[in-house]
Amino acid sequence: MASTKRRVAVKASARMYGGQPPVRAFERACIRLETGRTLGIVGESGCGKSTLARLLVGLEAPTSGTIAIAGVMLGSRRSPPPLELARLVQLVFQDPYSSLNPRLSVEQALTEVLKVHRLVGRGGCRGRALELLEMVALPERFAARYPHELFGGQAQRAAFARAVAVQSKVIGLDEPASALAVSVRAEIMYLVVGLQAVLGLSYVFVSQDLAMVMHISDQIVVMYLGRVVEQGPCLPVLDQSLPPYTRALASAVPVADTAMTGGLQDSAASSRSTASASVLAPGCPYQPRCSLAEEICSNEHPALQYLRPEHAAACQVAARQAGVTPEP
Ligand SMILES: Nc1ncnc2c1ncn2[C@@H]1O[C@H](COP(=O)(O)OP(=O)(O)OP(=O)(O)O)[C@@H](O)[C@H]1O
Ligand SMILES: [Mg+2]
Repeated sequence: MASTKRRVAVKASARMYGGQPPVRAFERACIRLETGRTLGIVGESGCGKSTLARLLVGLEAPTSGTIAIAGVMLGSRRSPPPLELARLVQLVFQDPYSSLNPRLSVEQALTEVLKVHRLVGRGGCRGRALELLEMVALPERFAARYPHELFGGQAQRAAFARAVAVQSKVIGLDEPASALAVSVRAEIMYLVVGLQAVLGLSYVFVSQDLAMVMHISDQIVVMYLGRVVEQGPCLPVLDQSLPPYTRALASAVPVADTAMTGGLQDSAASSRSTASASVLAPGCPYQPRCSLAEEICSNEHPALQYLRPEHAAACQVAARQAGVTPEP
């Protein structure tokens, strides 16, 4: 945790087509993750969180811009070979079954990764596979089981063991617990946090669960329609946030301490979004839903600017409230 080396830096844009006008799935963002820390990515459905996670592991190529992981550049024109990229960063998906080969037992899946990445010598695979299972608290008897024989939480543990097996220091977690039964979500997150401390992992944690993000993240990025609207250390952003969008998201978190979100009336974050990332009107993208919108908000797109040290937001109203001259 002591290292301040910047491990992941993303400055990229990704546009999706699918036969329709391009969707600005992730645009003009510049984010950083430090070694051993957790960067939480939050925002409504469709705001581009998974696109960011997929950009990190090379499942999407950025339309423009660069991504640097531990000094290795990925981008639209250059990228390391798939095996090298896999050793830099792994992604754990929401649906654990999608990342496990249905024809391989848990042990075979782990052995495959260990062999492909040449991480163990001859005869060492079983021992290492069992060690990995122990790390994710799966008893030895699960080694012989196939994905369809596992419950969701067990399958996610196996998927996590597979990600950890590669020994990459950066792991993207795309809503790793949200598809699981409520009763096992906390167990999985407890495991994830515990292994970070033991292995010194850096996480990019994508989630719509703000309470969970608050709990485990050091830094947070709030996204809206493919853009970063706020970023900074987790607590100041969620506790003393100025932009109405983040405040609306935070107000939807069920917390016992009402002081944190008390008085927030904007329920726009919980209402169904009709905004589109493919057809953006001029001005602030959130302006049609914002209860505090002013004239400037419908004319000029807000730039992401620092309102306090390390705390940036893209909101003209928030900038003015913070005594900063709003930049279009
Ligand atoms: N392959 C694709 N082709 C076309 N559009 C896409 C594609 N993948 C994603 N999109 C669009 O890009 C935008 C961002 O999608 P993304 O999956 O990153 O959002 P998300 O924040 O992860 O949403 P959720 O919380 O529902 O998982 C959405 O408008 C989505 O419809
Ligand atoms: Mg997603």
